[in-house]
Amino acid sequence: PYVIAAACIDVMDRSCVEECPVDCIYEGDRKLYINPAECIDCGACEPACPVQAISQDRRVPEDQAAFVADNARFFSHPLPGREQPLGAAGGAGVTGTVGVDTDLVAYWVA
Ligand code: F3S
Ligand code: F3S
Repeated sequence: PYVIAAACIDVMDRSCVEECPVDCIYEGDRKLYINPAECIDCGACEPACPVQAISQDRRVPEDQAAFVADNARFFSHPLPGREQPLGAAGGAGVTGTVGVDTDLVAYWVA
């Protein structure tokens, strides 16, 4: 799957969302997250991001490696204020803005 890394935090340009054919890019509070269970690896989102926040998981820069697991964690673990993980949520259009972040992103200091 593709992964969104630190550059998205507090930028949230959202151009990537319009490009994704399967609507698997979900919006937190400070950042967006790609659902690895739903991403079909088409790559359309990568060039759309003006701050180059997106790359394929095996090409994520070493200093951004934590974001591979963190994108997965957004969907596999219950987020603050929720009892159930989002899981394969069926599309960002279905869930709407999720509005919370993983701890890594919530406490991120640029
Ligand atoms: Fe973030 Fe870039 Fe998308 S800033 S919302 S990953 S276009
Ligand atoms: Fe969508 Fe990007 Fe994956 S456009 S399908 S999140 S590679």
